[in-house]
Amino acid sequence: MKDDAPHTDQADSNRRLQTLAFELTVAAARERQRIAHALHDDLGQLLAMAQFKLSELISRLARDAAEPDPLEEVRLLLCQAAQATRAATFELYSPVLQQLGLLPAVEGLAQQLQRDSRMRVHLTARVDDLPLSDAVLSVLFRIVRELALNAQKHAKASNLWISLEQDKQDLRIALADDGVGFDADAALRRFSPQGGFGLLSAEAQMQAIGGRLCIESVPGGGTIATLHLGFDVAASLPPSAKSIPTMSHPTSHL
Ligand SMILES: Nc1ncnc2c1ncn2[C@@H]1O[C@H](COP(=O)(O)OP(=O)(O)O)[C@@H](O)[C@H]1O
Ligand SMILES: [Mg+2]
Repeated sequence: MKDDAPHTDQADSNRRLQTLAFELTVAAARERQRIAHALHDDLGQLLAMAQFKLSELISRLARDAAEPDPLEEVRLLLCQAAQATRAATFELYSPVLQQLGLLPAVEGLAQQLQRDSRMRVHLTARVDDLPLSDAVLSVLFRIVRELALNAQKHAKASNLWISLEQDKQDLRIALADDGVGFDADAALRRFSPQGGFGLLSAEAQMQAIGGRLCIESVPGGGTIATLHLGFDVAASLPPSAKSIPTMSHPTSHL
């Protein structure tokens, strides 16, 4: 019996650490949503109102003065600020994910990548109702997006294959590209302020939600990144943030 005690202590403290990591990850997901909410509902609306008022003023002044240019410049700046606010809102929070689920959100991401890059994006999915909380889904989606953007930014790939597969016990999401490849172990060991935080953070967040990230890459031979999450582990973690309250439709007003 005595021999078991240190093991039990170790198991307890591992369990506490895992719970803490999970709680912190969930808290971060909630905080991102709160900031997205504030950006959209407060700043976004104020910018839209300022643009509207300025446009009115410009058209009124245009009748009397020949050169409304400085005001037109301010209007363009406001327009850029509104676009930046909208982009930041979507970076922080995906209404599609929250309202329709992981697959539609990944489909949207695949379409966006296909539009904005030269890569062809191939998506296959065998997923049904995923027994995962909103917070866990939001963490998974951010990691998928980070990996997909890595393929777009760094891989010089012609193709990106994304697959989602679910069975009774787990979910596997794989992103494979036929790009330049890289030394993944070195990238996961290194942190530099110039970049290189994405993979480290993705690995830590996967562990925090009870899963793992595995990257196989050979310089010159493409990259396969696989996310693996067992439902039993996810279910045994604290039920915090079972659902994140949905925010008013971010697209409708901006
Ligand atoms: N799919 C990929 N193909 C080629 N290189 C990659 C890929 N993903 C990551 N890398 C390399 O690993 C480095 C670390 O990636 P990451 O941690 O996401 O940081 P960042 O994207 O900010 O540079 C990248 O700078 C890049 O050199
Ligand atoms: Mg990155």
